[in-house]
Amino acid sequence: MTQSSDDTWTVTIVVPEESALDEAGETHKVEISEDETILAAARSAGVWLTADCQQGWCITCAARLVDGDVVHPNARRYDTEDREAGYILTCTAKPRADSTVVVEQYDEFLEYRAANNKPPGSSKLSD
Ligand code: FES
Repeated sequence: MTQSSDDTWTVTIVVPEESALDEAGETHKVEISEDETILAAARSAGVWLTADCQQGWCITCAARLVDGDVVHPNARRYDTEDREAGYILTCTAKPRADSTVVVEQYDEFLEYRAANNKPPGSSKLSD
């Protein structure tokens, strides 16, 4: 089977003011092909988003999808409820439309997961 990688979308990456990244408060537009993850494309563009496992498991790369569409074909722990709650994992998220994401949402996604009895639960919440 031949896979086309001709489709490319513009993903607007919003880095919150309160983020610890050098790019805090900035917005970057990145062109991303359908086979590329948002994390990889952002880093290639010089925006070094936070990420640990890069397998869709640890949620350190969590972001909010403000508009557009992404898929997570290789995420190890990400489900429909996460998607419906508006969260994505940039390490495995691949765009399927022009999209806008607010990055560096680990704390918020962790709280959402804990509040909904989803892994890793409350074990990683700080006091
Ligand atoms: S870096 Fe671990 S889930 Fe994305």
